[in-house]
Amino acid sequence: MHPMLNIAVKAARRAGGIINRASQNLDLLHVSRKANSDFVSEVDNTAEEAIISILLEAYPKHSILAEESGAKGDPDKSEYQWIIDPLDGTTNFLHGFPQYSVSIALKHRGVLTHAVVYDPSANELFTASRGRGAYINDHRLRVSKRNQFSECLIGTGLPFREFSHMNAYLAMLKDIMPKVAGIRRPGSAALDLAYVAAGRYDGFWELELSPWDIAAGCLLITEAGGLVGDLEGNDTYMESGHIVAGNPKIFGQLLQVIAPHLTKELMA
Ligand code: IPD
Ligand code: CA
Ligand code: CA
Repeated sequence: MHPMLNIAVKAARRAGGIINRASQNLDLLHVSRKANSDFVSEVDNTAEEAIISILLEAYPKHSILAEESGAKGDPDKSEYQWIIDPLDGTTNFLHGFPQYSVSIALKHRGVLTHAVVYDPSANELFTASRGRGAYINDHRLRVSKRNQFSECLIGTGLPFREFSHMNAYLAMLKDIMPKVAGIRRPGSAALDLAYVAAGRYDGFWELELSPWDIAAGCLLITEAGGLVGDLEGNDTYMESGHIVAGNPKIFGQLLQVIAPHLTKELMA
């Protein structure tokens, strides 16, 4: 394993330990509200601090973009930037619903090079390094081979915090739902993307995600042979947060069903 990926795995496992311990005593947690339906607990902050301290101890000059504490260091001066979501799926975590993850990605000169998504309740570790494939624990990952849209299991995220694109989203959902075998909304986008890489879903789409939700998952998918794009299949998804992913056969079919529902606001 590349030494940088190894450090990221160490950080993700440390955060996973903090999350697992806290999950046994959810009643004791101190929770606050960042915005409407946007909760943060002391676990998000403690896990993030642990991750950052492990990464910066190994690589003091690297810059950081983390969900809870924001940006550290100058990404223009440092060639390396770590993108961190210490707990993706906080709402699930707070409800004892075991579907959440730690997501850590490294960009080198703007290109994603290493990725870890760790599910601490299932102890599933998803990793990828550019050009070296994607793995779950020690096993190589490949996206699914399904090519019939009607046989596909598609993951998504329902809007819950920001509802400006709700009508467009519901129109997409309404169009996709009868055409596929099933739709799932488990509640951790980073883990959803890891599941596309693992072939558990054949495709995925969601609107309005943040860089820390998707950076690691995107590298997992491309290294597992899948495709990732924005709502038109282009590469602005890290900026827009609107993302479509899938195995190479389903990716295009998903884009085609989404296309009639694109609005001016979504493309802005
Ligand atoms: C959220 C999860 C969820 C997605 C949201 C994200 P958080 O992350 O990834 O699946 O639908 O858009 O914000 O807030 O739990 O880290
Ligand atoms: Ca998140
Ligand atoms: Ca989070």
